[in-house]
Amino acid sequence: MNILLLGSGGREHAIARSLAKSKRLDHLYIAPGNAGSSQHGTNVDLNILDFDIIKSWSLNHKIDMIIVGPEAPLVEGIYDAIKADDETKHIAVIGPSAEGAMLEGSKAFAKKFMEEFDVPTAAYLEVTIDNIQEGKDYINNNAGPYVLKADGLAAGKGVLIIADAQEAISSLSEMLAGQFGQASATVVIEQFLDGIEFSVFALTDGKDYVILPVAKDYKRIGEGDTGLNTGGMGAVSPPPFVTSELMQKVESKIVQPTIEGISKRGFDYIGFVFIGLIRVDNEPYVIEYNCRMGDPETEVVFPRIQSDVIDLLEAASRGTLSEVQIDINPLSAATVMLVSGGYPEAYEKGKVISNIPTTSNSIIFHAGTKMSNDDLVTNGGRVLAITSFGENYKLALDSTKRIAEDIQFEGKYYRSDIGFDL
Ligand code: AMP
Ligand code: GLY
Repeated sequence: MNILLLGSGGREHAIARSLAKSKRLDHLYIAPGNAGSSQHGTNVDLNILDFDIIKSWSLNHKIDMIIVGPEAPLVEGIYDAIKADDETKHIAVIGPSAEGAMLEGSKAFAKKFMEEFDVPTAAYLEVTIDNIQEGKDYINNNAGPYVLKADGLAAGKGVLIIADAQEAISSLSEMLAGQFGQASATVVIEQFLDGIEFSVFALTDGKDYVILPVAKDYKRIGEGDTGLNTGGMGAVSPPPFVTSELMQKVESKIVQPTIEGISKRGFDYIGFVFIGLIRVDNEPYVIEYNCRMGDPETEVVFPRIQSDVIDLLEAASRGTLSEVQIDINPLSAATVMLVSGGYPEAYEKGKVISNIPTTSNSIIFHAGTKMSNDDLVTNGGRVLAITSFGENYKLALDSTKRIAEDIQFEGKYYRSDIGFDL
């Protein structure tokens, strides 16, 4: 198979590494990729939102499958663009249609979907400028904290959690007035759920599914889960609190009705469903859906998949997932992100990275890196994700932290407390 993988982060490096292990792979191309993905294939400089370019390039390179890493091309309709064209419709696309991607692209759409298919989630109210008074009344009539979510994609920044009712009301007005542009023209006000979060991933063909290894990520920049939100500072798979009893509830109360809903609504959905969950009184509730894999969760989830990943993806694209078993490494995996000083606010790029170990049982995933002449340099906020295995997540983290300490670049920062709450 010739495969084109879209994206440039640690997630895509991790997917590329798993694809490269498959005997089924002829050529792997990654657009645009990073210095790590180029260890497993050929990076190509394509604009992943220019679907005409992606289509003609894919035809010229006899691509059989396009795997979409990030959400933006999916929400913009890359699946539909490839399938609507007689010349490219034979290409398998891993990632849903624009309609299916609305599960991530619109919080209000996702809430209505969960309501219709009885998927447990926080109570909510959808608010626009037309029913702003109803929104204010909802806040006044319910106890805080208040969760305000911009309906559309807002680069991970569109969720505000506010303790005080008056403050929540003024934030609601600001959001509706365009604080997050068009993304907050609609706002979802949600009941606050208090619990521990985790991430479940299913690969689906739109009717059947396989569940991938469960993970927990750490989104805040500071130790003890403090400070600003980031894309993710580290992850553990599996988190020990996700018992098989809890996982059974997740499957029967959440994954099954979600996939049934996708099937009943008739979405073209061949790809990953990432379900952000929270455990409250030992019951799982959905915090959000995403239409792609998580980052950095992929850096612990994919290394634990021992099955041939191309076989899994092909079964999804052929609609034969019900015949597939997934083989998962029973060891624990943990990853820690090394980030640029200043991230998630302003940071500098182009810092030379040194002391990457060449012989180690750990995996060094590149997130924001590139080659500059003969130097490996930083090229993003999140720079490297160091994944290790162990009999438990603590042993895995011990190996990761030794390497995190050794690798050097100016401004390097990482959280040394990943897993602190487990
Ligand atoms: P989201 O973009 O929907 O994943 O929200 C971002 C973060 O806000 C989540 O990872 C949670 O930590 C938090 N959050 C979202 N919804 C709720 C909720 N209903 N109750 C408590 N925390 C929430
Ligand atoms: N790590 C969370 C995400 O990828 O959205």
